Amino acid sequence: MKAMTTSSWYAEFAAREAAGSSPLYERLSAAVSGDDELLARLDGLPEPKRQPNLLFGVVRFLGGPVDDPGAFRAFARDNWDVIAAEMRTRATQTNEAGRCAVLLPILAALPQPLALLEAGASAGLNLYPDRYSYRYGDTVLGDGEPMLECALTGAAPPTTRPEVVWRAGLDLNPLDITDPADLAWLDALIWPEHEHRRARLRAAARIAAADPPLLVRGDLTTDLAALAARAPADATLVVFHTSVLYQVPAGVREKFVSEVRTLPGHWISVETPPVLDLPGRPDPPDATLHNLVALDGRPLAWARSHGQEMVWFG
Ligand SMILES: C[S@@+](CC[C@H](N)C(=O)[O-])C[C@H]1O[C@@H](n2cnc3c(N)ncnc32)[C@H](O)[C@@H]1O
Repeated sequence: MKAMTTSSWYAEFAAREAAGSSPLYERLSAAVSGDDELLARLDGLPEPKRQPNLLFGVVRFLGGPVDDPGAFRAFARDNWDVIAAEMRTRATQTNEAGRCAVLLPILAALPQPLALLEAGASAGLNLYPDRYSYRYGDTVLGDGEPMLECALTGAAPPTTRPEVVWRAGLDLNPLDITDPADLAWLDALIWPEHEHRRARLRAAARIAAADPPLLVRGDLTTDLAALAARAPADATLVVFHTSVLYQVPAGVREKFVSEVRTLPGHWISVETPPVLDLPGRPDPPDATLHNLVALDGRPLAWARSHGQEMVWFG
């Protein structure tokens, strides 16, 4: 298969990811795809570091303009050394608490209490499904912020939140939600028009900062079992991961999946096929990007990437 050029990567990002969700990034990405000077600079970075979300997040983090392609390109040209240094050291670690709305129907139905272990936890915001509030149509659970809204079809909404007695996360580079610089990076990763997600990040960060989770630096393909062994034996262990395995090389994903199946308790995966495809799933509801939600390898539902919609079929 022919490798994708950086130009086509940005053109594709504009057309397939940003279109309909971020008009600003759609315009910016289309402009970058035709900017030979900027493309040459990007090609001087290692291939995984050339990605649109990383470039745009770093420019936002540095206070650069993203609302006008001309101003963006001038900023990128004038500040390239700083931008490149940030792109080399940072990674896209978007932490979306909204994904808890997709986990909740499964978590609430498991034997309580729960010991949660998130693989690829970023700052660990998805380790607080018991502390957030939820709205599934007319069903509302909790009344504080953040209120996570999910259009759920095909199943009755959950009526309770889980009881969580232990929460731990594993990440190659755990972010510290109490560190203003890490919080600023998470904020910069949220697309410019998504103000509701920015408010959600701040509300979730307040909850996590009041009682920070155990976050361990490590690789989910080698360090999972050791962390799982620290979970209390009298709680149901739930290992879960959301939007993580696309960052793990294809060859080693299988190793992780084999290992997770050997652990006690349950395993919830929220990943896109073909990153993690599982037998027994129907086709996704439409052509937009969907995550496949599965419990112990059994497909149960499709979910949109920020937890805003869930189509249950299991
Ligand atoms: C896109 S973020 C998603 C974070 C969180 N799961 C969520 O849904 O909000 C992916 C995270 O996985 C982590 N990650 C990627 N590969 C990993 C690996 N091999 N072991 C541990 N963490 C990894 C990254 O550092 C990053 O924080």
